[in-house]
Amino acid sequence: MATAPTLETRRLTLAAFADELLTKRYVGWLNDPEVVRYSEQRHRRHTLSSCREFVGSFAGGPSHLWAIIEKERGLGHIGNINSAIDAPNRTADVAILIGEKKAWGRGLGAEAWMAVVDYLLGPGGMRKVTAGAMAENKAMLKIMNKAGMIEEGRRRRQFVLDGRAVDAILTARFAKGHG
Ligand SMILES: CC(C)(COP(=O)(O)OP(=O)(O)OC[C@H]1O[C@@H](n2cnc3c(N)ncnc32)[C@H](O)[C@@H]1OP(=O)(O)O)[C@@H](O)C(=O)NCCC(=O)NCCS
Repeated sequence: MATAPTLETRRLTLAAFADELLTKRYVGWLNDPEVVRYSEQRHRRHTLSSCREFVGSFAGGPSHLWAIIEKERGLGHIGNINSAIDAPNRTADVAILIGEKKAWGRGLGAEAWMAVVDYLLGPGGMRKVTAGAMAENKAMLKIMNKAGMIEEGRRRRQFVLDGRAVDAILTARFAKGHG
């Protein structure tokens, strides 16, 4: 993986994902239906080996995988955030998973997200940052909005959630001078 730079925010350290964080606790997050409710990860069973494969997929490529470390209350590793970089087009697609439920609803998702988006759109960085979420994932829609990402498309009835077809909302923010 292109070495992800460490990003510090008030309550978080975002650090390049280190192999020692590949734990049963981390695998447990991905197998928790509540955590993956709005994620396509909900359709499969995860193991240490499938997680290792995901982490390994960043090796040697331009994309970044950060571990989200909470430092104010000592919660430690609470989730991950990644950016899939399309280098020729200078775009990055961002995704986040906070698996530690004690960390939910405290503004930490927004804090991590804004740090990564600002970094990606910073000097010498990407032209455009994109992300998508199910229309039902209200927390994600708020986070993207807070980070200045605006809706640029909607894939109608793209996912099936609890037997009901729901829209995917695609959002983006451009670097200054590229919008
Ligand atoms: C989605 C997720 C990143 C949100 O992180 P979080 O730290 O709990 O969210 P925040 O506390 O930063 O909240 C952001 C905003 O959403 C709101 N919010 C949080 N949870 C919410 C919920 N369940 N319903 C509605 N709004 C919610 C907050 O009030 C806040 O809004 P505000 O700024 O107007 O106060 C986190 O819950 C998560 O990773 N979930 C599992 C994986 C996932 O769904 N990833 C995204 C797939 S696209």
